[in-house]
Amino acid sequence: MNSIPSTSYSIHFNDRCYKELNTYLETSNFSKIFILVDSNTHIHCLPKFLANIQVEMALEIIEMEAGEIHKTLDTCTQIWHSLSDLDGDRKSLIINLGGGVVTDLGGFVASTFKRGVSFVNVPTSLLAMVDASVGGKTGVDLGTIKNQIGVINFSDMVLVDPSFLETLPKEEMRSGLAEMLKHGLIKNADYWNRLCDLKELNISDLEGLIHESITLKNEVVKRDPNEQGERKQLNYGHTLGHAIESYCLDNDQLKTLLHGEAIAAGMIMEGYLSHKTCGLSETELIQIKNTFKTIYGSVDFSENDKSSIFELLKYDKKNSHGQIKYALLESIGSCLVDVIVEDYLIDEAFKYYAS
Ligand code: GLY
Repeated sequence: MNSIPSTSYSIHFNDRCYKELNTYLETSNFSKIFILVDSNTHIHCLPKFLANIQVEMALEIIEMEAGEIHKTLDTCTQIWHSLSDLDGDRKSLIINLGGGVVTDLGGFVASTFKRGVSFVNVPTSLLAMVDASVGGKTGVDLGTIKNQIGVINFSDMVLVDPSFLETLPKEEMRSGLAEMLKHGLIKNADYWNRLCDLKELNISDLEGLIHESITLKNEVVKRDPNEQGERKQLNYGHTLGHAIESYCLDNDQLKTLLHGEAIAAGMIMEGYLSHKTCGLSETELIQIKNTFKTIYGSVDFSENDKSSIFELLKYDKKNSHGQIKYALLESIGSCLVDVIVEDYLIDEAFKYYAS
């Protein structure tokens, strides 16, 4: 598969990943190389990764706990201390080997340690391959509020080796699929339809689709790296989805949702808002609802849950001047940004989701 050139770096695939990385390591004169893993990727991905890289100097492995609840400044502090204790300097390289939590948090740690060191993302989950590792967004949660602290700063390369997906649990695969479906919804109806027709998520079928998703996202990022306009489209389903995800993280009564599960609910609800305000047809709305409900099921939100989730909407990063701004669909494949909707429609959107 062809490499994809991005803003200041490239995204490489399969065997090409290791060739590019080995050349880069050989020619870059790094003083130290750190590999950030979590407790899962340490076991399931690191051995394969190490077997493929050739480097003279010793590598330092830093492990963090796995899971969204560890995507915090406390974890960053621990890693900054480890880097410091292990003599990290400004010519250090950090390789983030993991899912979206590791690539987001590791990118932020690298962007801020000694005012910024080089980093490479090696995504090991479907979600990190098609979304988190690409496009320079780095950061952590503030309490349970998603991605409130961070910077946009690009990695030196992204290496996508889909064989890491062989050990990924099924629910994590489904979580990543939600971001791929989102790419179709905002940019390409044909891609959406092909994903809807997928019978199962096997790696050989997914390889080309992963490449397509990254290409779709990367084109948006190249045109609008700092999210001044078009890039906001990538937040379709995320305004309500992030609020739902944060609420569930903090609430013992509701099961913690994976990111893709939360934005699947968000995409149904924001589909409803799109129908009411931006001209999305009823036929397409029903198709969106049926697709996400079939794959992700449904969460029962009480009235109390709804009002708490509504309160969390004010933390969305697209908001300004106290107004909640949505990315909404005109039709499948076409998305508008900065749409403001009446509050009562949010209540209706929850009802539509539950129906
Ligand atoms: N995950 C959305 C973006 O990178 O803009």
